[in-house]
Amino acid sequence: MLARGRAPLPGAGARLARGPRGADILQRSSLLRKGPPAVTTPEETPGATPSRPGRPVPEGPPPAAPAAITRIFSGMQPSGELHIGNWLGALANWVALQDRHPCIFSIVDLHAITQDYDPAEMPARIRDMALGWLAAGIDPERSIVFVQSAVPEHAELAWIFNTLVPLGLLERMTQFKDKAKNQPENVNAGLLTYPLLQAADIAIYKADGVPVGEDQVQHLEMARDAVRKFNNRYGEVFPEPQPILSPARKVLGLDGERKMSKSLDNQIGLNDSPEVVWARLAPAKTDVRRKKRTDPGVPEDCNIFAWHGFFSSPEERAWAAEGCRTAGIGCRDCKQVVAKNIDAALAPMRERRAELERHPGRVDEILAAGAAALRPIAQATMEEVREKMGLDARVRYASTAGSGR
Ligand code: AMP
Ligand code: TRP
Repeated sequence: MLARGRAPLPGAGARLARGPRGADILQRSSLLRKGPPAVTTPEETPGATPSRPGRPVPEGPPPAAPAAITRIFSGMQPSGELHIGNWLGALANWVALQDRHPCIFSIVDLHAITQDYDPAEMPARIRDMALGWLAAGIDPERSIVFVQSAVPEHAELAWIFNTLVPLGLLERMTQFKDKAKNQPENVNAGLLTYPLLQAADIAIYKADGVPVGEDQVQHLEMARDAVRKFNNRYGEVFPEPQPILSPARKVLGLDGERKMSKSLDNQIGLNDSPEVVWARLAPAKTDVRRKKRTDPGVPEDCNIFAWHGFFSSPEERAWAAEGCRTAGIGCRDCKQVVAKNIDAALAPMRERRAELERHPGRVDEILAAGAAALRPIAQATMEEVREKMGLDARVRYASTAGSGR
């Protein structure tokens, strides 16, 4: 469903008219050699089967993004170094989608403060995330990149969604339950209403496509619920956003068991040097059957083989599968090829990042321009929302402000 009365993205037409550029950084990685990462159709997404170890990236012609999608929004919390899970699960898809749709990408600092953090570190974390995105191929000529708290209307719309969604639905969110368990001394109300701020992020720009990893699908169901409740109660304003998943919906970490995540320290960072990549990969978990070099294994049960699916050529994958099944190769041989291919994917990002670091003002300029472009859109949406809701105080009482009766 298309949103009504939606403000165009400033400059987005011009950005798109300039045509596909900027994905060069990823061109050498096998992910893009196979074409842009697949996007799932919205119908495929809910309850979709997670990728298992050994499940290769689907091959074939590059799939088109769902035709109905007209505006993309996604975000990440500035709460740690980017890793290959973020990249394969979300960021690589963002880069590919820039060629096809107007895109808005947000560093969501207001979400990040629901977890323990050091205020003194926040500005550096935000800049670090922006650097990581640009290094990975987010092109500010075509996409809008900004920091969430620079557009305060996100929080205002989140409050309105707070009044529409029942508490019980929020309490059922898997991520809320996990976070409440992980930080029992800080189960703040923001952790509970987190998905409604996320819903507001998307809705305030009337975005309808949201490229994320599988762990965010439940939050997007909540976003759809929130906008549906708003539209039913106050009149049609928002489109219902759909998740757009990449083939690597869930990348497991070095432990081979849990989702790759900085907090579990099972990640490979996008900025890791070849030495660090190898130091972390060498002891990584493989198929338990391969206790000795001579024990054959089952590649489908090995997370490293899943990584071959993301990073290696079909020939290398066939070599790894055959060598594993027959014990023709050792796990170390297999890992060395993955390490080489991961490094081939990361090297251009490291170079781009180093180049950006030589121009420190550039990132700030990009973030400032992003916020400036978006503020009027967010303000226009909020005017529409307030009008539908009978909240006319800003208009009614604006002119008397300061008259000092
Ligand atoms: P996070 O780093 O958890 O804030 O996630 C940022 C984005 O990366 C979200 O869209 C996540 O769904 C995605 N993501 C994070 N970790 C993974 C992973 N291990 N596999 C796939 N996607 C991931
Ligand atoms: N919750 C998302 C995550 O942890 C981050 C996020 C915030 C987001 N707002 C969003 C993602 C809007 C997509 C759209 O990854």
